[in-house]
Amino acid sequence: MKFKTKWEINPDENLIILTGKNDIADNDYTDDKEKEYLESMAAKDKKMVSINQYNRRLIFVIGNTKGKKWEKHEKLRKAGSSVYDLLKRLDIKNISIINKLKTEEERLAFTEGLALSAYKFDKYISDKKRKKYNLKTVSLEQASSNEIKYLESIVFPVFFARDLVNEPVSYLDSPTLARELKKMAKKAGLKVKVLDKKAIEKEGMGGILAVNQASPVPPTFTILEWKPEEYSNKKPIVLVGKGLVYDTGGLSLKPTQNSMDEMKCDMAGAATVAGAIFAAAKAELPLHIITLIPSTDNRPGGNAYAPGDIITMHDGSTVEVLNTDAEGRLILADALSYAKRYKPELVIDAATLTGAAAMILGHHGIVNMGNAPDKVFAKMEKSGLNTYERLVRMPFWDEFGEMMKSDIADQKNLGGRIAGAITAGKFLEKFTDAPYIHLDIAGPAFITSKESYLGKGGTGYGIRMLLDFLKNY
Ligand code: BES
Ligand code: ZN
Ligand code: ZN
Repeated sequence: MKFKTKWEINPDENLIILTGKNDIADNDYTDDKEKEYLESMAAKDKKMVSINQYNRRLIFVIGNTKGKKWEKHEKLRKAGSSVYDLLKRLDIKNISIINKLKTEEERLAFTEGLALSAYKFDKYISDKKRKKYNLKTVSLEQASSNEIKYLESIVFPVFFARDLVNEPVSYLDSPTLARELKKMAKKAGLKVKVLDKKAIEKEGMGGILAVNQASPVPPTFTILEWKPEEYSNKKPIVLVGKGLVYDTGGLSLKPTQNSMDEMKCDMAGAATVAGAIFAAAKAELPLHIITLIPSTDNRPGGNAYAPGDIITMHDGSTVEVLNTDAEGRLILADALSYAKRYKPELVIDAATLTGAAAMILGHHGIVNMGNAPDKVFAKMEKSGLNTYERLVRMPFWDEFGEMMKSDIADQKNLGGRIAGAITAGKFLEKFTDAPYIHLDIAGPAFITSKESYLGKGGTGYGIRMLLDFLKNY
């Protein structure tokens, strides 16, 4: 898919016209009969009207005038998704979008929804007929290069992240994840470094090594850096993502149905923060950003780490392992500790960390928490609304940290029966000394039935929110 600016509309082009309800007939593309029809449909409160002319299709989309800005934008994204379904049915591959709504932002929201709906993961489908349709060009009449750049900086990183999440572990093991990240980094102009198992051992990353112990495949630790010539933050912002390419639970084995069968998605946090730094580079944000991605799978086996084990982490502290399925926090902890060397201004991690977070919001939002200043959380919440990748903040009380204390080690990796998402966050907090925000994306990262422009499977949830947050940082 390509985004283009269109300076002149040809008479035989397929058009999407974003319009108000009252001026729907006020256009150069329809005759009197058609205008009458448009007005009658608008009067019936139709939100989308399609007209089949001899040589082209016109699709009118009526924007909302009422509601908050973010509500209007989300409605337009969803309308974009419905229009995509129509284009697919009609086999229309090239389309130009004309904006008669009040703001350019409204067209961008619509186009974002349309474009994000065009994602497909069909590389394993052999029947050519099933993968025939492709939306090729989306042209925006009179768009500025910034608007095109905005769309490209959102859509391609989200597609990249969705591909990573949708790839099964039979393809995407840790070394392959590192390779894919490297490829992306080269394309996006990021600096990249991959620590292999030897380097991870040398660093003393005991959490990653314990989780990796029974794996036939070595772990990786990928470092991506965006450092443009000019940037406004004195110290870097560090993003950390859980890159668990497959989570069986280890010896604390997960049941298969509705649990292990989706666990190729357990590297979605990695996909989100890699997508976010990719997006930041595409948007050429004037910020210094570093992304850290610890990666392994988690398997049972003769060598597997076991409940009862005590491991020494990268920061030298010890952890009593009480459940090998609480592995995400172990690999993230090492990455958070590694991040200290950058003296970051802010650390944000994203992880499919707990089923408890998924139980709170389902796929409707991100559970976040941390010790960063309230004003940073407020900014992030706003970005959540702007992009409709919403956040709900949990309390981060010390009592929840107390629940992670071990009698025989510094911490244990399992809290009690309550507040599982928060105790996991409090565990992680111990490994960082910078202002910290933890994003538990276990709910929205992967969905099992199609949901508008999020699609089905990997969603790339959080990338648009993080890009908006970084832009306004
Ligand atoms: N990867 C899972 C969490 C998860 C659950 C992600 C559902 C996506 C959807 C994580 O490693 C895990 O297994 N967490 C355990 C922790 C528990 C043992 C403390 C959980 O949530 O059950
Ligand atoms: Zn687990
Ligand atoms: Zn996991």
